[in-house]
Amino acid sequence: MKLIDGKAIAAEVRSEVKLRAAAFEAASGKKPGLAVVLIGSDPASSVYVRNKINACEEAGIRSFCYRLPEDTAEEEAEELIGRLAASADVHGILVQLPLPAHLKEEKLLAKIPVSKDVDGFSAENIGRLARGERAAVACTPLGVMELLKRSGVDPSGKHAVVIGRSNIVGKPMALLLLNADATVTVCHSRTRGLAAICREADILVSAVGKPAFVTADMVKEGAVVIDVGINRTEGKIVGDVAFGEVAPKASLITPVPGGVGPMTVAMLLRNTMDAAERCL
Ligand code: GUN
Repeated sequence: MKLIDGKAIAAEVRSEVKLRAAAFEAASGKKPGLAVVLIGSDPASSVYVRNKINACEEAGIRSFCYRLPEDTAEEEAEELIGRLAASADVHGILVQLPLPAHLKEEKLLAKIPVSKDVDGFSAENIGRLARGERAAVACTPLGVMELLKRSGVDPSGKHAVVIGRSNIVGKPMALLLLNADATVTVCHSRTRGLAAICREADILVSAVGKPAFVTADMVKEGAVVIDVGINRTEGKIVGDVAFGEVAPKASLITPVPGGVGPMTVAMLLRNTMDAAERCL
């Protein structure tokens, strides 16, 4: 078993972005810019947003952070996105999810121009991804692909099993693996015979959000196991994978924390850099 060091790989990606950000600034006279909008006071979201802002700073990306109260009116949120959409200093716009219940995610996100959609959540970008065209892609699944690539895992011809079908992780993950020529199975809460399907996986990606969901009996000897879960239990952060029993069977496995998590932020910086360079 070998551990995939997400922290180290994320640092590599971030230092590559930093070089590109400096070159961008030399060419254009300004820094690449990312606007982050956080509405409400979800504690996990606050931590994620702070990490994103700090990572921008370190990479030479200018960040614009907007923290709005829980009861922000829809028109007010839309007006802010509209202003950011029009700003020449802002190359990427990220609206942190989940939104407060009274705000409609689809309606608000639709105000982000496709060219500034660094989360890859827009219908246009998901459509491009599905067609195998160049697209901005959601940061977490993109981070998983980068971990595989830099760990020497080529998905071509392999059976990849994705557990979870969210728009943010499961669906784009499946599309990315398919585009990389894997044979892809997507499992979810209604899947019958989940364990047997997972046992067929050469690459198993879990994005469920339940501690110890993936147990040793669900994993083939020598499989690559990617744990996307971030679960808080008794003040500790754990993934979806029962790491202690699964790790000995896996050829490669991501830890939590220190696996996929740091990659999400690194890929956000890279998506922002891509968006900025398209403006040159
Ligand atoms: N909430 C959890 N993950 C993400 C993400 O990747 N992007 C945004 N915007 N919100 C999230």
